[in-house]
Amino acid sequence: MSTQDMPHLAPYTVRERHHVGEHVWEIWISTDEAILAALKPGMFVDVAVPGDPRHLVRIPLSYYDMDLHRSYLKLYVVNVGEGTKRFCHQKVGSGATLIGPLGHGWELPKDTEHPALLVAGGSGAAPIYAAARMFAAGGIDCDVVMGAQSGTRFWHEGAAQLTTLDSSADVQVFPATDDGSYGFHGFPTQLMERLVEKKIYGSVLCCGPNSLMEGVAAIAAREHIPCQVSLERMMACGFGACNTCSVAMKDGSVASCCQDGPVFDAEEVEW
Ligand SMILES: Cc1cc2nc3c(=O)[nH]c(=O)nc-3n(C[C@H](O)[C@H](O)[C@H](O)COP(=O)(O)OP(=O)(O)OC[C@H]3O[C@@H](n4cnc5c(N)ncnc54)[C@H](O)[C@@H]3O)c2cc1C
Ligand code: FES
Repeated sequence: MSTQDMPHLAPYTVRERHHVGEHVWEIWISTDEAILAALKPGMFVDVAVPGDPRHLVRIPLSYYDMDLHRSYLKLYVVNVGEGTKRFCHQKVGSGATLIGPLGHGWELPKDTEHPALLVAGGSGAAPIYAAARMFAAGGIDCDVVMGAQSGTRFWHEGAAQLTTLDSSADVQVFPATDDGSYGFHGFPTQLMERLVEKKIYGSVLCCGPNSLMEGVAAIAAREHIPCQVSLERMMACGFGACNTCSVAMKDGSVASCCQDGPVFDAEEVEW
């Protein structure tokens, strides 16, 4: 790792905010070019959000895309609490600091002949979107299951962009909503069961609530498909200094989600 790739503190400025669903925003920020150059799909940044001196902990956020021409990092943020709410409502032109690049991202699959199955739930759509772009750029066809609670919370823009990528690979998006108001009525795991019945997949990727990742990992294991998951943990520091982000591994060891992950081989995780 060169010093340019090392996690470091840098200022950021909010450049554009797009309200893309109920409690869901795209926030485009400009930041340090070295961080943008070192970030790979599945990696993340730890963002400080000003406005509440009681809230000192940074928010870990994956990126879904970047615009290198303008040095923009594009974040997809679900407003779930105090920090994300303040971040989603930060004024254009305001900013603070972030730490990045952090973590290890997605690996390209060994099997590139069969399509990949990517499964996202909620805010997991951000790293899954980035993975789909990476895989498509590598010529790997992708079926992307995007799950949301309802159609009003579904990331329609993201789904549309994925299906119109300038790539020779075929990327298809399969929406699923818990209440059935858009796309498949049910959980992403139920839709995944239908897809694996019809098609042979070379790899599975998943990011979302832990229960979703556990379910997806179990189906992938049953079907003997290699599976990567991007785990979400509370993170106080983001770079291995505080032990808040522990992940129990099958071999009895404890990994740190922020440094060893957030992407793990699903078979190695003690669910
Ligand atoms: C590596 C990584 C990448 C992430 N990428 C994204 C992303 O691209 N977009 C996005 O919207 N969210 C992402 N998250 C989740 C996001 O960091 C949390 O939702 C956020 O930190 C919550 O902060 P808050 O102050 O708004 O919530 P709080 O008010 O602190 O809590 C609200 C709820 O969120 C849960 N929560 C708090 N911190 C986390 C956390 N670190 N991970 C998961 N749940 C948490 C709490 O248990 C609680 O239920 C990511 C998390 C990790 C670990
Ligand atoms: S968040 Fe501090 S060690 Fe991972």
